Amino acid sequence: MNGLQQRVALDRLNTFGLPATAARYLRITSLAQLVEAARAGQLRGPRLVLGGGSNLIFLGDVDRLVLHVALRGREIVAVDDDATRVAAAGGEHWHDFVRWTLDQNLPGLENLSLIPGTVGAAPIQNIGAYGLEMAERFEHLEAVELDTGASRRFSAADCRFGYRDSVFKGEAAGRYLITRVVFRLPRRWQPVLGYADLQRHFGERGIAAPDARQISDAVIAIRRAKLPDPAECGNAGSFFKNPVVDAAAAQAFLAAHPDAPHYAQPDGSVKLAAGWLIDRCGWKGRALGPVACHARQALVLVNTGGATGADVQALAGRIAADVRARFGVALEVEPGYV
Ligand code: EPU
Repeated sequence: MNGLQQRVALDRLNTFGLPATAARYLRITSLAQLVEAARAGQLRGPRLVLGGGSNLIFLGDVDRLVLHVALRGREIVAVDDDATRVAAAGGEHWHDFVRWTLDQNLPGLENLSLIPGTVGAAPIQNIGAYGLEMAERFEHLEAVELDTGASRRFSAADCRFGYRDSVFKGEAAGRYLITRVVFRLPRRWQPVLGYADLQRHFGERGIAAPDARQISDAVIAIRRAKLPDPAECGNAGSFFKNPVVDAAAAQAFLAAHPDAPHYAQPDGSVKLAAGWLIDRCGWKGRALGPVACHARQALVLVNTGGATGADVQALAGRIAADVRARFGVALEVEPGYV
């Protein structure tokens, strides 16, 4: 197979900076290359699709074929009365793509500024931040089935988006490589300003009606203040999902902890803030070996130098056990262990 490499170090290809070696590694730079290799049956067997490496934790060497998505390209697809459709290839850097849409005067993705990772990875966990989820701007995606080379189009309904979730984390996991994503940016743009951090940011500056670029800049500033930059300190963003509990459990929890941040969901369930729960257990700023709970945002675990996947798992396990013992709430890990 053209371009196939053996024993490739993945240390720099995961934002947590964990040591791992891929048994076999193929950089995917064109759709034709991908389809040809898949049709020839060369991509069958154990494999891992790697984007920006910002949402996975390597527990050891990867005894699989690692497909590193390097498909590039972005374009305005169509403009109609309601929306502008824009597309980007799976290997495009997410934040660069967001800024490019703003440069084209196409608002709609600004709340998702500075999220690490690639465009092709965004739908897998339905990235979200500051009051917006990617699903709200999604039109469809194109993917290649790795066992056969068949092209398949997924509508929003096909993707079954949920909170940090999609079909690509469930029954379609590992089967497809997302080659292109098309977004629908509404022509009649409405700023999404409900999130407390954004309201505070603009309130302090006396800005009543920020434009999309100002919102993007605000999100960047807020993220930089709270979240560690993977270029400086290895991390994978939020390490746990915010737990969603049913109405009865929420009522009991809030009676005991009336000051806990919580967000009512449309179906009556309640989302709790994992960062708050972890913070209250005293983990914020504390370390276990070379992995620490970030001092400014307890939901983020950081590599303080030389950590392995086992070290990450050890701290995550201790934190989840403490949260369960103290609050009776189960935490679910957000990035994937490999
Ligand atoms: N909080 C604490 N202590 C902490 C951290 C948070 O008390 O150490 C409290 C905060 O004061 C706030 C609440 O918990 O009242 C929620 O915190 P924050 O607004 O910082 O957001 P989050 O729930 O911790 C989620 C996403 C982030 C996203 C932000 C902003 C998840 C798992 N995380 O974090 O996404 O950037 O909201 O929208 O949903 C990611 O997925 O990697 C990620 C960074």
